[in-house]
Amino acid sequence: MPTVYLNGTFLPLEEARVSVLDRGFLFGDGVYEVIPVYSRRPFRLHEHLKRLQHSLDGIRLANPHTEAQWVDLVQRIAAEAQWADQGIYLQVTRGPGPRDHAFPAEIEPTVFLMPMPLTPPAPALVASGVCAVTATDDRWLHCDIKAVSLLANVLLRQRSVDAGCAETLLLRDGWLTEGSSSNVFIVSGGVIATPPKSHLMLPGVTYDVVLELARQGGMPHAVREIGEAELRAADEIWLTSTPKEVLAVTTLDGRPVGDGRPGPVFRRMHAAYQDYKAAVMRAG
Ligand code: PDD
Repeated sequence: MPTVYLNGTFLPLEEARVSVLDRGFLFGDGVYEVIPVYSRRPFRLHEHLKRLQHSLDGIRLANPHTEAQWVDLVQRIAAEAQWADQGIYLQVTRGPGPRDHAFPAEIEPTVFLMPMPLTPPAPALVASGVCAVTATDDRWLHCDIKAVSLLANVLLRQRSVDAGCAETLLLRDGWLTEGSSSNVFIVSGGVIATPPKSHLMLPGVTYDVVLELARQGGMPHAVREIGEAELRAADEIWLTSTPKEVLAVTTLDGRPVGDGRPGPVFRRMHAAYQDYKAAVMRAG
């Protein structure tokens, strides 16, 4: 049973308890991060903690820890877990209080960290690609906040599960935003494209890595809006996220993407991502 952290204490997962009055439970009033750890070394930790701050600011919750304290907590959880590669789940809710929509005047946030095993997509999946479906993005207008109130994302993700697919790609007013739990890139005419960061999508840490690698590798790329017709006509579609890394979508709504196999630009980006990850881990 993994060791988790809850409000100042390290304890076994099965002993961790929060109040039913916690606003995370009653209102989904909290934010979270999933931080990758490879060979017990956190990857892009500063970027995840920066996004955590953005999410906390977005829900008007004071950060309960300094960056140094967060780094220490993440490192302690990473050191104790039984897996060398982990996704560390970190959650801050507004805490327990009498049930009232308004913020209570006196309230202590609930801070929770737990390790989860992190397995990159199997080589067979990377080689074959995955299928995805599309759906109308019916979430709220603060998708840049990594909020624990994920009901819309959960329902959207389930649509792809029901179709036997890996992800649901979201279209708002005919424009691609992201996936239910990933960001989306396309390749058209050899150019990589992805929607710009806005309140309509989560600013993915993996999204930033992929754009950096495109820049460094001299791969033509553009950050711009992508319409539904362009998505459907794309030569390649990729998903990016901490657990998926970079993964090709080879079937969209039952139709092949390009020739129905992961394309050459994907293969190059996937290799670049693996090389980058290995280099960061070697550097420590
Ligand atoms: N989700 N968009 C959404 C809606 C997401 O939930 C995620 C990640 C991403 C990709 O972000 P990143 O590259 O920083 O992992 C984009 C995490 C993994 C989750 O909710 O479990």
